Amino acid sequence: MSVVRLHELEFEPYLSEGEVLAAVDRVAAEINTHYAGERPLFIGVLNGAFVFAAELFKRLTIECEITFVKVASYHGTSSSGTVTDLIGFNERIEGRHVVVVEDIVDTGNTIVHILELLRDRHPASVRVATLLFKPDAYKHQVPIDHVALSIPNVFVVGMGLDHDGLGRNLRGIHRITSHGK
Ligand code: IMP
Repeated sequence: MSVVRLHELEFEPYLSEGEVLAAVDRVAAEINTHYAGERPLFIGVLNGAFVFAAELFKRLTIECEITFVKVASYHGTSSSGTVTDLIGFNERIEGRHVVVVEDIVDTGNTIVHILELLRDRHPASVRVATLLFKPDAYKHQVPIDHVALSIPNVFVVGMGLDHDGLGRNLRGIHRITSHGK
C-alpha cells in the first residue's frame, strides 16, 4: 500500500487488508456463536458497508439472510435538524433477530437513528456489527455489539469507506495525512 490522493486530500496506509480481515474473522466467529440456531437477518447499510458485509457474510456458518438498506438524511423541521429515513427497505422484521452491518460508527448518530427506526418494526432483537468504531467520537450509550477494529478519531478510507465518493476500492484502511489537508 502507498500514499494515495483522493480529490484534495492525501491518505497513507494504516491497516493492511490482512489485519482487517483477521478482525473480520474474529467478529464472524462471535456472531456464529451468538446466533447459533437463530437464522438472523443481516441488514447492510449502503453504500459503505458493502465490502464488510460481503467479507463477514462469507465467513458465517449459521443459517442467515442478508438485505441492504440506504439511509437518506435531509434537513427537516424537527428540533434535531436532520431526519433520517430508510430507503428500499420492505423486509418484514417482526419477530426476527436483526444484525445491522455498518462500515463505521463515528458519533453514532446514524446507527442510533437506524436502530430506532428498526425497533418501530418490532424485531425480536437488534444488534450492530461494524467494521470500524471510533470510541473517542461516539456520543451515545447504545452498545456497539460486534466491532472488528476500534480506531482513534481520524478520517479513514478504504474497504468500502470513501472520501466524497472515492477510495472505497482501496484494499486495507488508509488514514488522512496531516499535510494532505
Ligand atoms: P456517524 O457520525 O456515526 O453518524 O457517522 C456517519 C457517517 O459518516 C458514517 O456512516 C460514514 O459514512 C461517515 N464517516 C464517519 N467517519 C468516517 C471516516 O473516517 N471515513 C469515511 N466516512 C466516515
